[in-house]
Amino acid sequence: MEHFYLSLLLLFVSFVTLSLFLLFYRHKSNYSAPNLPPGKPGLPLVGESLEFLSTGWKGHPEKFIFDRIAKYSSQVFKTNLLGEPAAVFCGAAGNKFLFSNENKLVTAWWPSSVDKIFPSSLQTSSKEESKKMRKLLPQFLKPEALQRYIGIMDTIAQRHFASGWENKDEVVVFPLAKRFTFWLACRLFLSIEDPNHVAKFEAPFNLLASGIISLPIDLPGTPFNRGIKASNFIRKELSKIIKQRKVDLAEGKASPTQDILSHMLLTSDENGQFMNELDIADKILGLLIGGHDTASAACTFIVKYLAELPHIYEEVYKEQIEIANSKAPGELLNWDDIQKMKYSWNVACEVMRLAPPLQGAFREAINDFIFNGFSIPKGWKLYWSANSTHRNPECFPEPLKFDPSRFEGNGPAPYTFVPFGGGPRMCPGKEYARLEILVFMHNLVKRFKWEKLLPDEKIIVDPMPMPAKGLPVHLYPHKA
Ligand code: HEM
Repeated sequence: MEHFYLSLLLLFVSFVTLSLFLLFYRHKSNYSAPNLPPGKPGLPLVGESLEFLSTGWKGHPEKFIFDRIAKYSSQVFKTNLLGEPAAVFCGAAGNKFLFSNENKLVTAWWPSSVDKIFPSSLQTSSKEESKKMRKLLPQFLKPEALQRYIGIMDTIAQRHFASGWENKDEVVVFPLAKRFTFWLACRLFLSIEDPNHVAKFEAPFNLLASGIISLPIDLPGTPFNRGIKASNFIRKELSKIIKQRKVDLAEGKASPTQDILSHMLLTSDENGQFMNELDIADKILGLLIGGHDTASAACTFIVKYLAELPHIYEEVYKEQIEIANSKAPGELLNWDDIQKMKYSWNVACEVMRLAPPLQGAFREAINDFIFNGFSIPKGWKLYWSANSTHRNPECFPEPLKFDPSRFEGNGPAPYTFVPFGGGPRMCPGKEYARLEILVFMHNLVKRFKWEKLLPDEKIIVDPMPMPAKGLPVHLYPHKA
């Protein structure tokens, strides 16, 4: 009997040793090619993921990048992120390289957890289908298509401020900003307006959002598992809405221009093909996800910076009140008004420079290639980081100074200001985001001044930047 246990123990120890050996061997062999960029692969499996994530949790995601740029004095360094051998491309040259080699040397890559929650989404760019969609998306979101929605955005903003902000001394900004952008998306993508119907989507949506950023452990009760379930639920609900809309369009009960869903159902590609229901459900889900937390993070940080910088607030107020005073009572914002909001948009850009809602994104090398004299092997994951230029004194002198005038005239040099990415994969929702942010700023400053209740509130980046306590503020309504 004793022998039996001893053999079992021996077998177990051998198994563990062999597994560890294979793990180390694989980890090391990933980095055996000659002339790789400088850098450290970190530990097997986790690589440098913990350092990468924890600098964000502490509110300084740029530290991961700048520490390594300083150490290796190079615009590209190797590392290992999320279990994958990776290279981080820095500076305007790194951005330019990745953005202009899309589908030539690199392609989009998302961690496997994202693929599992969106099995056939536009994020899985390798699929032909998603390439087709990628071509169609900008049509629904280009400025000409969006102009007609500005009045609706203003109406929703007015309702949002009436229900969430007015007659309150204190509010917590982040959850309110999220509610605003979500309500807007429900209305503009799907014509869902009733706050109760919006709320029905909101809860599974938040589960979905936290599922994406959780550990990919698919066991009952884990955030990842709940995220997958929420994604299936939302998809089913979307399918029902799409089916009904088809009927309504056929019967003339819905209008072809009422929202992005109608637009998608009635638009064909260059071969005359229409998207099927599942595709559309996926695309709408992708838009809801892509546009939800990003724009609300931008709105939240605008509130934060305007509280901290009264002279900037005054300039924004002056611009917005002039527009408000030029309107007849009850008249909604329109395209011309938006064009007049130049200073406000410069302020929003400066906010997104200092607090980019998305920190960066991954690509995958589809071939071996050379960058800056270093070899990048096929299959490696590549990361561009907004902070590597946004907080770089070579791109933005005195990078920590809040200065909206950086965006006057020709604005920043190409590939330095990249909150929306660049090249063919640049955020398709950029113009939509500009409109919703400006409509939010207009409705906010024309009603209130405000003060932060927690002057030293910490910022966490996980993976979006947010004030640790959601940015509670005291509101001071303007006298009528
Ligand atoms: C301030 C707000 C926003 C910011 C900062 C932002 C930023 C970004 C960035 C950096 C990317 C990734 C680009 C890359 O992979 O290199 C992206 C992708 C995307 N964004 Fe946005 N975004 C915002 C708002 C929106 C909105 C409002 C929508 C929808 C209406 C949207 C839809 C998308 C979609 C669908 C993608 C994926 C595109 C693809 O995979 O090709 N975004 N966004």
